[in-house]
Amino acid sequence: MDSQRPGAAIGIFDSGIGGLTVARRILGCMPNERIVYVADQAHVPYGGRELDEVRSFACGISAALFRYGCKAVVMACNISSAVALDDVRRAYPDSPVLGVIAPGACRAARTTKNGRIGVLATAGTVRSGAYSRALFSLNPELTVVEVACPKFVPLVEAGEEASELAQASAADYLEPIREVQADTVILGCTHYPFLLSALQGVWDAPIYIDPAEQASRELAEQLASASLLALSPGNESLSHLLATTGDPSSFRAHLHRFLPDAAASSTVIRLSWRHSSLSLMT
Ligand code: DGL
Repeated sequence: MDSQRPGAAIGIFDSGIGGLTVARRILGCMPNERIVYVADQAHVPYGGRELDEVRSFACGISAALFRYGCKAVVMACNISSAVALDDVRRAYPDSPVLGVIAPGACRAARTTKNGRIGVLATAGTVRSGAYSRALFSLNPELTVVEVACPKFVPLVEAGEEASELAQASAADYLEPIREVQADTVILGCTHYPFLLSALQGVWDAPIYIDPAEQASRELAEQLASASLLALSPGNESLSHLLATTGDPSSFRAHLHRFLPDAAASSTVIRLSWRHSSLSLMT
C-alpha cells in the first residue's frame, strides 16, 4: 500500500485507552484524517515494565502501522516516546514519527513564569529521565520535580477516574510538586487528562499541560510540509480502525468516553501478538 499520500491513515498507539486523548486532539485539529489506533491492552500498564520491553512493544506496533500503510506514526504514549522514538525514526526516516515528550516539554517551558515545573508520569517515564532531559535542554535553570503515579493508569482503564481513590491519589502525587510551588504541571502520561478534574479538585493553581495539544499541532505542520495532509474527506475517511490486543468488547464499551464523535464511525478489531510481531492485515 502506498503510504505517501494524503488519503493514507495516521497510525496512533498506546498501551491502552489513554492514547485516545491524543487521537481526539488529532481529529479535533485535522477532522479530515482517518486514524488507525492500536491499544496494547494485553500489556497495559507499560509504566512498571522494563524499558527494553516497552521499546520492543513500541517498535513492534510502529512496524505494524507502517506495514499497514500509515503515512505517519504518533506514539500517543509517553513511555514509548521516551524509549523508542529514536529507534523508530531511524527505521522509517522518510515518514513523520512523533512522540509526546518533546512537545509537552516545549509547551511547559514556554508556559512557566516561575521556572518551576512538575511532571506527573508513570514510573518508567520518570526512570527514563526523558522529561528532565528535554526540559533542561530548553532551559537549564528550570526546577523540575518528576513524580511517578502508579495508581493512575489502572484507575483510568477501569473507568474510575472520578473515584475517591483517584482524588486521594491525586493529592498524594501532587504533594511534592506543591511543595516547590510549581506553576506548571505536565500530564506526562496520555491517560492523565482524564484525571484533570481530580487533580484540579485537589490543587487548581498550576497550569496543567496536555502534551497532545502541541503534538497534534506539530503533526499537522509536518504533514502539511510533506504534502500529506488530508484536505478533504476522501473515500476512505468514514471509518477509523481501532485495534486492541485485549478485549474488543470492553474497549468498545469505553470508546464513547474517549472518542465520542468518532465512536460511531469506527471499526474495532482484536489483534494478537505473534512472538514480537503484530499484524493489522486481516
Ligand atoms: N499512556 C501511556 C503513557 O503515556 C502508558 C501508560 C501505562 O501503560 O503505564 O506513558
